[in-house]
Amino acid sequence: MNKEFKVLMLNGSPRINGNTTIVLKAMEKIFTENGIVVENVQVGNKDIRGCIACGTCFEKGKCVFDDIVNELAPKFQVADGLVIASPVYYASANATLIACLDRLFYSTDFDKTMKVGASVACARRGGCSATFDELNKYFTIANMPIASSQYWNSIHGREKGQAEIDEEGMQTMRALARNMSFLIKSIALGKEQYGLPEKEQWTPTHFIR
Ligand SMILES: Cc1cc2nc3c(=O)[nH]c(=O)nc-3n(C[C@H](O)[C@H](O)[C@H](O)COP(=O)(O)O)c2cc1C
Repeated sequence: MNKEFKVLMLNGSPRINGNTTIVLKAMEKIFTENGIVVENVQVGNKDIRGCIACGTCFEKGKCVFDDIVNELAPKFQVADGLVIASPVYYASANATLIACLDRLFYSTDFDKTMKVGASVACARRGGCSATFDELNKYFTIANMPIASSQYWNSIHGREKGQAEIDEEGMQTMRALARNMSFLIKSIALGKEQYGLPEKEQWTPTHFIR
């Protein structure tokens, strides 16, 4: 297969060269070794507001706020995989990242089926599992399979650089990138041989009846 595979990585940390960056750099190395092209975008230090539910994206196919979210949309569209990584803030993902993801997923109507997702949480001590679950929700509402690792994708550290000495955490991230590379390539072969799964027309019910 002659396809160039691409992974888009979103870094939800506002800190330059923080612990989340360490993880993404380690994952990027593995992707590169596997011949996958990586684009790594730090969103946690950008000025990104939340969704205002205006519905403009339904008409225009893009967000009414013309910021980095609309720049990320075409990158996401051509990506075979998406990694979203966040520092843990009060047992949750960084709010700027969440604002970005809400708007990115809601405002884009291209098919995300079988793009592989992976999420990563980075904390001093607690809240990784809750953050991991929170981030995975974007994938599982978008027909995106999730790459997993040998542990839940969490790493520990408080001050910049400390993640590097969480040996098991770093190993978990490397395994995650290897598994994700394999999954991306396997899905490409599967698509070639079997095509994408059949899709039914969406039947929204809104719990009214
Ligand atoms: C506002 C704020 C809230 C935080 N909340 C938590 C938390 O709930 N649990 C935790 O273990 N660490 C918490 N931390 C620590 C960060 O998760 C930790 O320093 C992490 O390494 C930051 O990643 P970064 O260097 O990629 O930004 C918090 C930090 C900040 C600034």
